[in-house]
Amino acid sequence: MTQAATHQGSAGEHANLAWQQRSLDHVWNPCTQMQRARTAVPPLPIARAQGPWLEDFEGRRYFDANSSWWVNLFGHADERINAALKDQLDRLPHVMLAGCTHAPAVELAERLSALTGGVLGHVFYASDGASAVEIALKMSFHFWRNRGHEARREFVCVRHGYHGETLGALAVTDVTVFRDAYDPLLMRAHMVMSPDARQAAPGESAADVAARALADVRVLFEARHEHIAAIILEPLVQCAAGMAMHAPEYLRGIRALCDEFGVHLIADEIAVGCGRTGSFFAFEQAALPGEPALWPDFVCLSKGISGGYLPLSLVMTRGGIFDAFLDDDVARGFLHSHSYTGNALACRAGLAVLDRFDEDDVLAANRIRAAAMSAALGPLHGDERIEHIRQRGMMWAFDVRESFVGERFAERFHLAGREQGLLIRPIGRTVYLMPPYVLDDELAQWLAARTLSTLSITLAQTPRTDAARAPEPPVA
Ligand SMILES: Cc1ncc(COP(=O)(O)O)c(C=O)c1O
Repeated sequence: MTQAATHQGSAGEHANLAWQQRSLDHVWNPCTQMQRARTAVPPLPIARAQGPWLEDFEGRRYFDANSSWWVNLFGHADERINAALKDQLDRLPHVMLAGCTHAPAVELAERLSALTGGVLGHVFYASDGASAVEIALKMSFHFWRNRGHEARREFVCVRHGYHGETLGALAVTDVTVFRDAYDPLLMRAHMVMSPDARQAAPGESAADVAARALADVRVLFEARHEHIAAIILEPLVQCAAGMAMHAPEYLRGIRALCDEFGVHLIADEIAVGCGRTGSFFAFEQAALPGEPALWPDFVCLSKGISGGYLPLSLVMTRGGIFDAFLDDDVARGFLHSHSYTGNALACRAGLAVLDRFDEDDVLAANRIRAAAMSAALGPLHGDERIEHIRQRGMMWAFDVRESFVGERFAERFHLAGREQGLLIRPIGRTVYLMPPYVLDDELAQWLAARTLSTLSITLAQTPRTDAARAPEPPVA
């Protein structure tokens, strides 16, 4: 077989199997117990993709119900993003950003800054989400150091939060399955209560839970604020925790506490940014309607910003923070870098994504899509097998009750989903949908019906038990 034929693959009878075997022989998959991949859940071999559909090497299609790990905003191989990238490819695929600059990096920074009314006017680029988190943590610490507050070197994170898997990001992450093996390597961080609305006691609202979580932060800040550089959180939805949603009052309250105690606020919008929660930045929902906007001190953005095309992440921050690094002394500058920082193709994809938002009024169109999807999921309400049905913007989730899940629920659901033409990966007993922004009524009906049939097929295989079980590790 020629090299070209190898890359295109063939739609032969056993083509999937062949690619799976070659992959298992040499590719070490992320977030995967490879023994399980070899024995029970081989990787789904994908030959091509169009819109929300992935197609395997034998022509079978799968709806990408989690937007390929939450990155693919407008479907795969989007015509307009493709065209922008093809144009950029012929002009300037990449140039180092230390000592050089280029139009896509400049324009993307300008346009993102404008979306914050210029408040977060400085943009530092990286590649993956975890790198952006590392940068925000380092920048905050270094800011305080440059300002003579060397004692401010502690970080606060939120119970069940997830910020990535490099060592710094993992240190502010609280998802046991990702963290435990490396715990001895990690810096210590303070952990405050999650505002997850599912913790509401009878009679309590989501805002009441948020108030309790804020009280926890206040206690910590009162005791330690002179040592704390920043608090990091995922605004509105703690995604890897199992789509744990909270009231916007929490963001508002955290902003006020950070102002009161002089602590930086880092909003990790890597998963929830780019319109996913209904506003371009999730943090926009912190302010009450008609009030001036509230902003964090740092926003980390990745995933959706390049439309699911290329690794791109970035940290946006305020002029006051940027200025603290200006000095004749090189070492007081922010000397962090990655080789692909501000890659021109990735930034151009980011610009094409912002163009899509402007040209198609995506936020308004998503409100219509969200209503259609919620209506299509109507039959979930009243289903005794599930609890905590929730939605925010273009995200839907529900939890299967403990007594129904059985062993390896997420894995069995995922495999049943494949048979139903869905790429869907529950987190523990949480089933969620985070589809690309291309749903119409018909697709919403189809997606809801297939999700429900996948649920029924999975639970039909499960002997119901009321006995306590060890919870399944939540792997996104
Ligand atoms: C909130 C959040 N932060 C950080 C990350 C890490 O991003 P990456 O996987 O690109 O390193 C993720 C990834 O899921 C995330 O959801």
